[in-house]
Amino acid sequence: MALYSEKVMDHFLNPRNVGVLEDANAVGEVGNTKCGDIMKMYLKIENDIIVDVKFETFGCASAIASSSMATELIKGKPVSEAMELTNKAVAEALDGLPQHKIHCSVLAEEAIKKALDDYYNKGENNE
Ligand code: FES
Repeated sequence: MALYSEKVMDHFLNPRNVGVLEDANAVGEVGNTKCGDIMKMYLKIENDIIVDVKFETFGCASAIASSSMATELIKGKPVSEAMELTNKAVAEALDGLPQHKIHCSVLAEEAIKKALDDYYNKGENNE
């Protein structure tokens, strides 16, 4: 039995939205102290819509696939929807992750939430 679904492999080998978003107005970085993996999300929000998103992930294949899928799930969506994105939804969109890799999708959820916190803390929600 394959360890990873085809979707995980696809998003790991061809991650979407990788890199730094120069004109991001919200950034969130999280890490997992156990595995040492780090994920950074850049969002560009206009009128409460996530018009652009990029990520940098220094981590395992599942973390890269999760961040790639998460960016696809929130791109073009309202902030309120991104706020509700769960790691479970990310893992499901990837056709599942092995049990010991679930925490990698949690990192994606946390990175997006942290970026949204950053956005609200800056008070730029009326931009
Ligand atoms: Fe830590 Fe995947 S092993 S994020």
